[in-house]
Amino acid sequence: MDILKQRILEEATVVSAGVLKLDSLLNHGVDPGLTMELGKEFARRFEGRDITKVVTIESSGIPVAFATALVMNVPLVFARRKKTLLNEPDAYCERVPSFTKGIVTDLLVSRHLLKAEDRVLFIDDIIANGDAARGLLKILEQAGSSVAGIGIVLEKSFQAGGRTLREMGYQVESLVKISSLEGNAITFED
Ligand code: G4P
Ligand code: NA
Ligand code: NA
Repeated sequence: MDILKQRILEEATVVSAGVLKLDSLLNHGVDPGLTMELGKEFARRFEGRDITKVVTIESSGIPVAFATALVMNVPLVFARRKKTLLNEPDAYCERVPSFTKGIVTDLLVSRHLLKAEDRVLFIDDIIANGDAARGLLKILEQAGSSVAGIGIVLEKSFQAGGRTLREMGYQVESLVKISSLEGNAITFED
């Protein structure tokens, strides 16, 4: 997606250890016009898939997942991230390690928000190792919901997350793939 590549080149900075700082686009600030374009692109790529719900993980996945849900005219559910897990009998929970924060967190979705009849489009902002994504997929599995596809704004393809999900059989659509951040340079795939 060329407009997104352009904005990443203009606004992103490379932080050490393969991390991209994207505060003005994804992780702190939001450009509503650009975000709507991302939502339209996901809706186009997953058109005709009978999707009943968009699901994401708080917090940075929410704007683009909202845009996608709005275009597809379906509800949005975002998994909550919590540091400690108390007894939550009314929720599906999965513990996941966090790549950027170096800690474990718990993903949690209330049982009443996911149904076995749901056909879910999972949207996320960035995929690195895919731990959070696999945690969310386990929650969808617990709920008995089917997964119609996975839409990622930015796949860091030098990390294994996207590839792993494709090997699991999911249709993963990444709007932009970054193959390297070596030497403080952003290299896109293809
Ligand atoms: P993974 O599943 O693909 O391994 O990702 P992981 O759980 O490790 O990601 C944890 C958090 O780190 C996610 O945000 C993810 O978006 C973010 N992340 C991964 N790589 C990068 C990167 O290169 N740059 C930036 N800016 N973020 C990255 P989160 O913990 O869910 O936090 P939030 O931003 O949604 O609040
Ligand atoms: Na994030
Ligand atoms: Na995220």
